Amino acid sequence: MDHDENPFQNEDKIFAWKQPLKKDSYEPDQIMHREEEIKLYTNSLQDIVEGHEPNNVFVYGPTGVGKTAVTKWMREKLQVEAKRRSVPLHVVGPINCRHYKTAYRLVTTIVNELRSADDQVAESGHSTDRVFNFLYEEIESLGGNVLLILDEIDNIPPDARNDFLYDLPRAEANEDTPISEAKIGLIGISNNLKFVDALEPKVKSTLGEREIEFGPYNASQLGDILSYYADLAFKDSVLDTDVIPLAAAFAAQERGDVRQGLRILEKSGEYARMEGSSVVNEDHVREATENIETDEILDYFDDKLSIQQGLAYISTTLMVIEPQKEARTKHVYNLYTKLAASVNADQVSERKFYEFLDQLCMLGLARSTERNLGRKGGRTYIYEVTDAPEDIINACKQDSRLGGVLPSNVYDILEHYQKGQATSYQAPDELEAEQRDLFKFA
Ligand SMILES: Nc1ncnc2c1ncn2[C@@H]1O[C@H](COP(=O)(O)OP(=O)(O)OP(=O)(O)O)[C@@H](O)[C@H]1O
Ligand SMILES: [Mg+2]
Repeated sequence: MDHDENPFQNEDKIFAWKQPLKKDSYEPDQIMHREEEIKLYTNSLQDIVEGHEPNNVFVYGPTGVGKTAVTKWMREKLQVEAKRRSVPLHVVGPINCRHYKTAYRLVTTIVNELRSADDQVAESGHSTDRVFNFLYEEIESLGGNVLLILDEIDNIPPDARNDFLYDLPRAEANEDTPISEAKIGLIGISNNLKFVDALEPKVKSTLGEREIEFGPYNASQLGDILSYYADLAFKDSVLDTDVIPLAAAFAAQERGDVRQGLRILEKSGEYARMEGSSVVNEDHVREATENIETDEILDYFDDKLSIQQGLAYISTTLMVIEPQKEARTKHVYNLYTKLAASVNADQVSERKFYEFLDQLCMLGLARSTERNLGRKGGRTYIYEVTDAPEDIINACKQDSRLGGVLPSNVYDILEHYQKGQATSYQAPDELEAEQRDLFKFA
């Protein structure tokens, strides 16, 4: 490139406004294809504006299907109507439970949201029980209906589960709380039904008074939704006619997830822009979909997994592709300790490590099958990863915290593994010592 040439001076011919395509950073003023869900939601919340007690509502369904978006939209409509009818209503949230590691943090946040700026609770210094009492006092002094919306409740701090999902919505009935005038309703949102299944029955039935299921969108629905965002995000007539249908078809075939469709559109536009093209075409979309899996896994590494969970995920993946040993708990753990040591991370006990593996399964990133160890007795679990190991390894490589843990021969082993997956492949003699060393980690 010429010394005087500035690579940034080319004008963007593709994007008008990127924000609507960015992850959860734009609230649509229109909700499409959720008429049934909105009807059920309205029916569950109608009692509030009619002056009856609020119901608890549980909203569930896979990722990116509008649970949070529809909930926010319902919140606005509910508040407008409550105001019009002079029904006292105070809505807190949606609060994303993923951002709070302890019950204390979560309760303090809510109390502080309800209190004035000069009366905030400190981030430490009280017992959790006491802060809970502050919360009850705030709610009671607000009076009227208080609707608390907790998003991604599968991530609720374990020590907050019963307090929030059971005690709080039943506080009026409980003599030990100061609540008598206020009426509390809880909306809980989750994309993880396993989490809910694992709750105590009494908690489950409190939370699940009203349940609203959000299913995946089909290709034609996704097409309509993506068009709405594309109109905002792209300059006029830069999209070839088959771009939206193709992005929608791809996302529908995967999971029916709008977020993924938006990501494909953004990437497609970027490929077009990089080429200096003034239109986005089918080829750009195909190119965008090729790396989408790796990008999504990278997202997990970046904002859903702790270092320890990331290490558990990558050691499972490596154990899956290593031909010498199967991915049993013990083998995965042994590899984990080596990887953790290599990046100076703490090494947790095997029991604790097992919890991480369990969390990976809960997130849908891994699966386990139980195996009897034969006459020697005992049982173990054999792990698999849900995504292609190649995509996971590529994502890990790009991750700033975990990029360095991959052993130097990882791509050799990956290639060996991939050939082994192909039916026409003749495996080399793995019993030969040299071969064995070649295809082994650490
Ligand atoms: N029916 C719809 N109309 C307009 N926009 C939608 C619709 N459904 C989803 N979206 C948009 O798609 C994106 C993902 O939706 P949302 O955040 O509501 O998913 P979610 O079901 O809460 O997923 P998660 O379980 O991962 O939190 C958001 O940008 C949202 O505004
Ligand atoms: Mg959500």
